[in-house]
Amino acid sequence: MISLLGVDKEYDGLRALSGVSLSIEEGEIFGLIGPNGAGKTTLIRILSGRMDPTRGEILFQGEKVEARHPGYRSRIGLVPQDPACYGRLTARENLGLMARLYGMGREEAVPRVEELLSWSGLMEHADRQARHFSRGMLQRLSLAMGMVHSPPVIFMDEPTSGLDPEARSSLWELISRLSGEGKTVLVTTHNMEEADHICSRIAILVKGRVREVGSPREIKGLLGADRLELRLENGAEGALSSVCGRLGLAWRREGDLYVVTGENIPGKLPEVASGLAGSLRDLHYREVTLEDAFLRFMREVGE
Ligand SMILES: Nc1ncnc2c1ncn2[C@@H]1O[C@H](COP(=O)(O)OP(=O)(O)O)[C@@H](O)[C@H]1O
Ligand SMILES: [Mg+2]
Repeated sequence: MISLLGVDKEYDGLRALSGVSLSIEEGEIFGLIGPNGAGKTTLIRILSGRMDPTRGEILFQGEKVEARHPGYRSRIGLVPQDPACYGRLTARENLGLMARLYGMGREEAVPRVEELLSWSGLMEHADRQARHFSRGMLQRLSLAMGMVHSPPVIFMDEPTSGLDPEARSSLWELISRLSGEGKTVLVTTHNMEEADHICSRIAILVKGRVREVGSPREIKGLLGADRLELRLENGAEGALSSVCGRLGLAWRREGDLYVVTGENIPGKLPEVASGLAGSLRDLHYREVTLEDAFLRFMREVGE
């Protein structure tokens, strides 16, 4: 749906993006994760036509686009990091204003605004000024505003930062629903657990470079493995070594723990346990989380 080819961005000599190439498929929720200053907002600004790259190209459905071109901007929606609504206007008025900015006439705008109020769960607050809204409500309003013109592609910059868990989960539910409606979503987030649950693919951006791209499962597999942690009676190393050898697993010692890694550990657990028989004191299976994988990765690249 959207591709970036060798995108660089320099701000007065500072290189914020270096050679970023990415392809975002139609209908996917693509997550961009990375530490502060990695270039996530810069990338979203470029993709949403708010800023030109220093070098590189953006392709929309295979065709090169001028991001600042209004024809392009009408096909994408932006939900910026800080909700861009007017505090003195009500939810309904904010949406109506946005509809007018996109050139909709009254007969088109009115039903669209009502549809979005209901879609975002804000109908009962429709006539309250946005300055009285909670952050979660503002984010939902901001998302609805980004969708006024029904763009097939939506960019969201840290939509859940600063939200409480309940507001977060209701926003993520809306984001999942978008994908169910066939929209393509690119979202930046700090929350690995959410990215893991909701994104079909993830790119890790560090210092302006894309370091890894893949499904959450692939990223976890690449960056860190599931592990089985064992405590054994003294002298059981031989038994561990032989059962691991038989099952194609690797083992190592970490302090007083034995750590076993390899493919399909859950399926092999019964054999591991029976192979160690009486020498097994404790066994704990840990599935790697995206956060573990990410932190390990950041340590490896020296961040
Ligand atoms: N308008 C700007 N002028 C100069 N430097 C900027 C500007 N915007 C961002 N930067 C710098 O570019 C880098 C990437 O920033 P940003 O895209 O905001 O990262 P992120 O959103 O991942 O935190 C940072 O080093 C930041 O200080
Ligand atoms: Mg940012």
